[in-house]
Amino acid sequence: MPDARKTTEIAALAARLRAGEVVAFPTETVYGLGADATNSDAVLKIYETKGRPRFNPLIVHVADLAMAETLVELSALAKKLAVFWPGPLTLVLPQKPGAGLSDIVTAGLDTVGIRIPAHPLALKLIQATGRPLAAPSANPSGKLSSTTAEQVIRGFAGRVPVLDGGPCAAGVESTILAVTGHTVTQLRAGALPREDIEAVLGHPIAVAKAGAAIAAPGMLASHYAPNAALRLNAETFAPDEASLGFGPGSFTLNLSLAGDLHEAARNLFSMLHQLDSSYFRIAVSPIPQTGLGEAINDRLQRAAAPRG
Ligand code: TXA
Ligand code: MG
Repeated sequence: MPDARKTTEIAALAARLRAGEVVAFPTETVYGLGADATNSDAVLKIYETKGRPRFNPLIVHVADLAMAETLVELSALAKKLAVFWPGPLTLVLPQKPGAGLSDIVTAGLDTVGIRIPAHPLALKLIQATGRPLAAPSANPSGKLSSTTAEQVIRGFAGRVPVLDGGPCAAGVESTILAVTGHTVTQLRAGALPREDIEAVLGHPIAVAKAGAAIAAPGMLASHYAPNAALRLNAETFAPDEASLGFGPGSFTLNLSLAGDLHEAARNLFSMLHQLDSSYFRIAVSPIPQTGLGEAINDRLQRAAAPRG
């Protein structure tokens, strides 16, 4: 396609992203299903579109280092690793206060997984949108990641607009590193080999065990866990418990008075944080196991799980 037509298409897709819609775009690793990372309603559409049963934190895609620095604290060590940007490397870094990211993107954590993708159309789309884009792989949940625009179109039966950038060069997801103080831990192996990372750092790095849930504070912790004890499917509430309701009734806070799962998902992390700051015990009303309810219940179960 001639360049002028691509530019017009990118402007139109950027407008849709700013309006809170999802758009699939190419990166050097796999196609991403993108949404404005500052808009919770838009980010929830990623989950609804993929049919994803879990709120995992999502990777935030930015166009350049300046944009990254508005969102995360880039330590000297992180800057050293940023030599791989644009490229297939995601860094998990502390979120800056006031960054404005949706707490659905971070799944309630105070860290952000962020990267600058090495695909000219991805960078143009982010620039034209003027917003950071949250994007997991552009495939229905449980299916293989898409590495061509055709696969994305087929996967979502044409319901998602796709920016066609040809086949992805890498075909596997980015390597994910957590950077905490002076420690670098590989959370996910990916398109950037660990040897290349270790060559730049001049020493070996730690590798997180597959399936490890919560490690040392700030290291792995990809699950938000409140300090308060959490009781689920509560029909009645004790006097010393904060109640987090769903549907009609009188509660300390209500995820959605109207019983709307989208609204409940949007409120989930902020209300948990709010109650956690003033109560030792939180009891949560039953949430239906349909649509976004599956992801809400999964997250609540993890937050309620006993910790070692
Ligand atoms: O190659 C890729 O990385 C693709 C393309 C589209 O860029 N994106 C991708 O995104 O794979 P996603 O959202 O599926 O990756 C999410 C994973 C989480 O499951 C988690 O392992 C890690 O990134 N992650 C993101 N933010 C995190 C955080 N704050 N703490 C720990 N892990 C995080
Ligand atoms: Mg995936």
